[in-house]
Amino acid sequence: MGTSNSESRQTTSYPFLRGQKALVTGANSGIGRATAIGLGKVGADVVVNYVAGRESADEVVRAIEGLGVRAYAHEADVSKEDEVAGMISRMVDEFGTIDVLVANAGLQRDAAVGDMTLAQWQKVLDVNLTGQFLCAREAVKEFLRRGVVPEVSRSAGKIICMSSVHQMIPWAGHVNYAASKGGVQMMMETLAQELAPEKIRVNAVAPGAIRTPINRSAWETPDAEADLLRLIPYRRVGDPEDIATAVAALASDLFDYVVGTTLYVDGGMTLFPGFATGG
Ligand code: BGC
Repeated sequence: MGTSNSESRQTTSYPFLRGQKALVTGANSGIGRATAIGLGKVGADVVVNYVAGRESADEVVRAIEGLGVRAYAHEADVSKEDEVAGMISRMVDEFGTIDVLVANAGLQRDAAVGDMTLAQWQKVLDVNLTGQFLCAREAVKEFLRRGVVPEVSRSAGKIICMSSVHQMIPWAGHVNYAASKGGVQMMMETLAQELAPEKIRVNAVAPGAIRTPINRSAWETPDAEADLLRLIPYRRVGDPEDIATAVAALASDLFDYVVGTTLYVDGGMTLFPGFATGG
């Protein structure tokens, strides 16, 4: 969870998403929570999707409303086709449309390959990859229906896929997760190519090690954190707000010419830190 210090870093008086309607999936904890609040800070109205944990979703909604924009919580499992369709159609009813989708919901079910159950494999692919596909598909239908509204944005809609450094760094013991994020990369790039002529921008953010519940064991003891920092040239574990800032920028017209790109936000984790010496 972000500290007040890191949260304040993103405060801005420039509401460059004012009037835009954003959906953030998995928005009641970690990166999703910070991103939902971060989009509110730059003026967007925000739907806070969650699958379990109503209270934490409500807390995020209150934080966003405190910024002077609208928000509500919506329970839906992103891997369920009917629940995703219902979430987008409610958003169109309540907010009028969707301008920004942050396909963030994701999870890990780690195991050595010999021990990995089909259920563990399938769950991760269902949420991390199929879930992003379903949310993107439903958002795109609305983007195409509405088209460009120039007073709101130069594009007809923006999709930001939450990927990971593990779309390019293989990760032993996490074959389901790494495969899902590799899939996210090619899904994102294909959708970007397909939808750019419709003025829909699709991009991804690839976080490195960010201090959230998903990787608590990697940073919660000093020894674990020291091990982790060896993989991060910038020698700092990321804060969720580091990702929120990147998402807000990609979603805005400031980045209108950025199409089909993955923005790595990882303190240099993808720079092969093992080669800093030797090789
Ligand atoms: C994973 C984290 C991990 C990080 C860097 C993320 O995508 O969810 O558990 O710490 O990648 O390895």
